[in-house]
Amino acid sequence: MTWASLQTVFLGSLLVFNDFSSPRCISKQELKDLADRSQTKYWNKWNVSVRLPDSRSCMQAAQEMRGAGNNRCVSPWRYRVEQEDDRIPRDIAFAECICKGCIIDGQQNQSYNSKLVFAWMKILKKTTGKCQDSIKYMVKKEFIKVPVGCTCVVPNYMK
Ligand SMILES: *[C@@H]1O[C@H](CO)[C@@H](O)[C@H](O)[C@H]1NC(C)=O
Ligand SMILES: *[C@@H]1O[C@H](CO)[C@@H](O)[C@H](O)[C@H]1NC(C)=O
Repeated sequence: MTWASLQTVFLGSLLVFNDFSSPRCISKQELKDLADRSQTKYWNKWNVSVRLPDSRSCMQAAQEMRGAGNNRCVSPWRYRVEQEDDRIPRDIAFAECICKGCIIDGQQNQSYNSKLVFAWMKILKKTTGKCQDSIKYMVKKEFIKVPVGCTCVVPNYMK
């Protein structure tokens, strides 16, 4: 595996599926079809290019300030990828703010704060319930809160 490469993963979004809010038993093929459909219809729109691994310090980020939007933002963020085998999509990129403050005039200024922004993402989860038929999976629709980026705010205590 090449870790220092760009990877394509899925960012959060509000998706619309058939109603799967209570667990349902579907076959492996049905699950694959459903995942493929959701992929083309919804998840692909949320692809992001992710630099991995990304352990830049705020100072390094302040010096870079180029490339993708998450690097040029005054509250730059990185992504980490969380993998869950029983979830579709399995890999989801979670944003993390690189700085505590914001980058103003080339340096971190802690009069401002970097703050995570979240979005709700609809996912499919293979659950542990039993299906009568052993070739079927019990699948459930869920919403998860995904950090998708950072924004620069003034601290709460400022009057
Ligand atoms: C998103 O990623 C998938 C899988 O790598 C790819 O097939 C698809 O073309 C990508 N979509 C966009 C909009 O980049
Ligand atoms: C940080 O921002 C504040 C408010 O704009 C400003 O007064 C201050 O000089 C800045 N600090 C640095 C180190 O640039």
